[in-house]
Amino acid sequence: MDNPFSIEYAVAPHQLIDREEEVRQVKQALTQAGKLFMIGPRRFGKTSILIAAEEALPKRRARVIHLNVQSFTSIEQLVRGLIAATAKFAPNAQQAARMVKDIFTSLQPGVTYNPEKSTFQVTLGVKSRPEEQPAPLLVEALNQIEEYAQAAKYTIGVILDEFQEILKLGGPEIENQLRSAVQLHRHVGYVFAGSETSLLQDMINNPARPFYRLGLPLFIKSIPRPDFASAIVQGFAGLGCVVPDAALTTLFELTEDVPYYVQLLAKTAWDRAEQQSWRELTPSLVAEVFQSLVQLFDPIYANQWVGQTTNQRKVLSAIAQGHTQKLTSQQFLRAFDLSSGTIHKALQSLESVHLLRREVAGTEIQYRLEDPLFKGWVLRFVQDQRD
Ligand SMILES: Nc1ncnc2c1ncn2[C@@H]1O[C@H](COP(=O)(O)OP(=O)(O)OP(=O)(O)O)[C@@H](O)[C@H]1O
Ligand SMILES: [Mg+2]
Repeated sequence: MDNPFSIEYAVAPHQLIDREEEVRQVKQALTQAGKLFMIGPRRFGKTSILIAAEEALPKRRARVIHLNVQSFTSIEQLVRGLIAATAKFAPNAQQAARMVKDIFTSLQPGVTYNPEKSTFQVTLGVKSRPEEQPAPLLVEALNQIEEYAQAAKYTIGVILDEFQEILKLGGPEIENQLRSAVQLHRHVGYVFAGSETSLLQDMINNPARPFYRLGLPLFIKSIPRPDFASAIVQGFAGLGCVVPDAALTTLFELTEDVPYYVQLLAKTAWDRAEQQSWRELTPSLVAEVFQSLVQLFDPIYANQWVGQTTNQRKVLSAIAQGHTQKLTSQQFLRAFDLSSGTIHKALQSLESVHLLRREVAGTEIQYRLEDPLFKGWVLRFVQDQRD
């Protein structure tokens, strides 16, 4: 029997739990020329939602260009990716070269088709000159897609996943240039998705920045427990193994409701249940499987820990132990022997290397370890030190 849980790069649309509303909003932006900013922490299921939305559109009419900005090393390469994706709209490979030449006239693209991989290889006749920012190439390409969509009388959807990476490729200029193009487009819908939450929030919420209020935000939160729970119960039912509510609660608490880690823990537990013919998944079995995963990653986590300064370690262990809020209060600083200067510095650097994630709980800022397994490792380490 196949394991029903998945930790693939993104879940297949038929395995997507919940997210109907998010998928609807993405589809709407893509087909109605909206501008949507999808913002959520790492591993919460952003890419899975994008793929599900794209797949749900009618195959013959929908035109979607879906790129992951992180997989490109320059703006020029991103533009080539954009053109290669557009080439797929052509009815066949022969017509693709003609079509992209017509659309992207000023960029003089050359296209070759690789039948084995069903991909297009694109070269540009025009390159950005070294003395000039490469951003105009991207703006030019998007403007030409807009013109093409207008002439063809349909809407094209552009998805840029890991959008925050665009700043690394194009520098601060790119924000201005993209905004001035995108805000005028009436026949291209944009979904900008990204995980560097504070940076993306600042991009759309800071009046001084070009993307301010350009589109609507869509915040990706954890999946409601009842929805995830029924999928888990059903997955284990195939093995004849029951999962009581207490075990589900343990599972969600240990993984802090991060969808990827919920799936990872459920998947690992399912393998054990199958091998050892478990009839019931108890809370202590869930905890045992969780610890086995912590152990599996031990060399990585130990390395991560060794790489931290004393203050950063203090902050990590405090947060792991549940001190997630009011980290700058006098009471906290005294208890952990930190100063307000050192705590700010430690929080900032831990956030920048993705060990910590900042979120808002009510009106309070709250910190969490981004990886709940690392949290488990830190707790075990602190405990071992005490013993
Ligand atoms: N709606 C969902 N239903 C079931 N599993 C999910 C769902 N969303 C996310 N997951 C789990 O989380 C994993 C990561 O999902 P995905 O790659 O879509 O997240 P992401 O937010 O794009 O991550 P990253 O920040 O790494 O790009 C999936 O492989 C799956 O295990
Ligand atoms: Mg992703």
